[in-house]
Amino acid sequence: MTVYALDSSNGLAARIGRAIGDRVVLLEGKEFPDGESYVRVPQRPEGPAILVASLHPPQDKNFVKLLLALEAISALKPEGLFVVVPYLAYARQDKRFLEGEPISVKVILRSIEAAGATGLVVVDVHKPSALSEHLSIPHRNAMPSREVAEYFKGRLRSPLVLAPDAGALERAKIVAEHLSADYDYLVKERDRVTGEVRAQPKSMDVQGRDVLIVDDIISTGGTVALAASTVLRQGASRVFAACTHAVMVKGALDLMMSSGVEEVVATDTVPSPVSRITVAPAIVEALKSLFDEVL
Ligand code: R5P
Repeated sequence: MTVYALDSSNGLAARIGRAIGDRVVLLEGKEFPDGESYVRVPQRPEGPAILVASLHPPQDKNFVKLLLALEAISALKPEGLFVVVPYLAYARQDKRFLEGEPISVKVILRSIEAAGATGLVVVDVHKPSALSEHLSIPHRNAMPSREVAEYFKGRLRSPLVLAPDAGALERAKIVAEHLSADYDYLVKERDRVTGEVRAQPKSMDVQGRDVLIVDDIISTGGTVALAASTVLRQGASRVFAACTHAVMVKGALDLMMSSGVEEVVATDTVPSPVSRITVAPAIVEALKSLFDEVL
């Protein structure tokens, strides 16, 4: 196999290549004077090809590079082209919340397939059912729950794992099971126009306990800050936050820390100062299961 890396891979291509014993080829890239992207595949694939490209900011630019790279690799006729997209941007717009909006995740997934991918691995996608809804190629959603739990193992006193909204409950439950901890969730409402979040009142068993908030994405930090202040008001001892994709905008870390969060940690799907957990083992496991199905 040949593992190809775009510069958005954030080191994951190298980790994946090392784990499966294959060579890693960095794609060449440049920007034309008018801002358009250029990529080139410097070596032909041997056997199936794996392309690793994350869609973290600048999302649109990284997405165009991914599509260009897919077209270029598939023209070299590998025996299968598997794409690893550690952070799938636009995944939160998975329905038309307001009339006239696009289903953005559908556009992204269908474009990846149309550009030549024959298999796809993503990490902790916002709504996993979007994959089978919009793709006809085989796919996997790699979950870094074990890795997140390992990071906190032995560090939390009487832990409660908290999902900041009902949609995040399954993720929190799996992390809680790895930690042999309890879990609970908040009911969050987001104003679709202003983006402002509010939590419905709910009393939780957090008195004197350490709370670990687990979410897929941190963007503004508003969701984590709201969850943290809610449980601290109810008597939680300390609050930690873990997310898969630290797409943190300016000020997010300060907002969360000033709401009482002791530590924020994330995986390496998005480069950030808090990305301390690697998703490489979860991706390798997902790739192996995909290969078992198709090769
Ligand atoms: C939304 O449903 C997601 O799961 C995250 O909770 C959300 O994207 C976090 O965004 P922010 O950090 O801006 O509150």
